[in-house]
Amino acid sequence: MKILIDKANCVGNARCAAIAETLYLLDDDGYIAVEEFEVPAGMEQLARRGAKACPERVIQVIED
Ligand code: F3S
Repeated sequence: MKILIDKANCVGNARCAAIAETLYLLDDDGYIAVEEFEVPAGMEQLARRGAKACPERVIQVIED
């Protein structure tokens, strides 16, 4: 599973990180710091929940 993030449209809600802080890393200003990453095995559910939590819907889950 892969995560793609439309960083330009992140407004810093930080809900993604509140659910999965080890996946959705934020920068010093509270905006998402990563653009794409492979989800480590076993963390798929957490990744999905974090993605769903973003009110701006900028986190896209690419299922394998
Ligand atoms: Fe940004 Fe959405 Fe997370 S607005 S900080 S990607 S909850």
